[in-house]
Amino acid sequence: MAEPTPVHERTVPRVLMCAPTYFEVSYVINPWMTGHVHDTTAERSRRQWDALRETVARHADVVVQPAAAGQPDMVFAANAGLVFGNSFVPSRFRYDERKGEEPHNHAWFARHGFDIVELPGGIFFEGAGDALFDRGTSRRLWMGHGHRSDAEAAPALGRLLDIEVLPLKLADPRFYHLDTCFCPLANGYTLYFPGAFDAASLATIERHVPPAERIVVEEHDAVEFACNAVNLGRVVILNRASAGLRSRLEAAGFMVIEVALDEYMKSGGAAKCLTLRLDEAVGA
Ligand code: ARG
Repeated sequence: MAEPTPVHERTVPRVLMCAPTYFEVSYVINPWMTGHVHDTTAERSRRQWDALRETVARHADVVVQPAAAGQPDMVFAANAGLVFGNSFVPSRFRYDERKGEEPHNHAWFARHGFDIVELPGGIFFEGAGDALFDRGTSRRLWMGHGHRSDAEAAPALGRLLDIEVLPLKLADPRFYHLDTCFCPLANGYTLYFPGAFDAASLATIERHVPPAERIVVEEHDAVEFACNAVNLGRVVILNRASAGLRSRLEAAGFMVIEVALDEYMKSGGAAKCLTLRLDEAVGA
């Protein structure tokens, strides 16, 4: 496999998606999955995933990772790990149900020319589900913990990647990964649901994001996974946004595209969870 093109030579973002071949809800490891075991169909989930892939492919190069049998949540590519330049920090899943994904991700990223950079042993970390780069001028990393990833992952990532990491404690079990309730957008805008965070973490967000750049999401949008958005330039792809949220995003210069992903919401995920940016620049 050729070396990935250096970021500065590339204009189109690169996004990884993992095929939905084996997707289903076959266990319960978050509140969304309750009552949905064996409640999805292969046909409907394939159709929704295809619609997302086609939409993302209009604004990015999509790379498809083959799925592994017996790993129904591997479709949530965001949880494979964290990409930073040519480095890949593999996830260490909290629950046994997802640990089987780890060797597949390790192999795929190694095969595609990434340097595998491991966190110290014994730290749970669920990749770009919990670690999100600021898309403003600074290269800081927001890192969610409290449900899946350990708090210790934040300083460990800071040391490993030599970047500023801002830990945010997640307080509502429905919003168990940072990307379910928080989304850094272009130009420093930040989409987030305040109810998902503890008070100290909300203060951290408010200290770093100026009021004019905060796009506060209300609960009715948050439970539709509006924060679980894929931002590519001025395009924001998400499951659903109310008219009010859509007009606030448009006022900030974004174009909102809805792709229905209810099959995946039964598993606790939507647009952002199903993707992983492969071109996270180190010095942007
Ligand atoms: N069923 C999956 C889990 O609970 C959903 C993961 C969603 N991924 C995300 N990045 N939020 O692990």
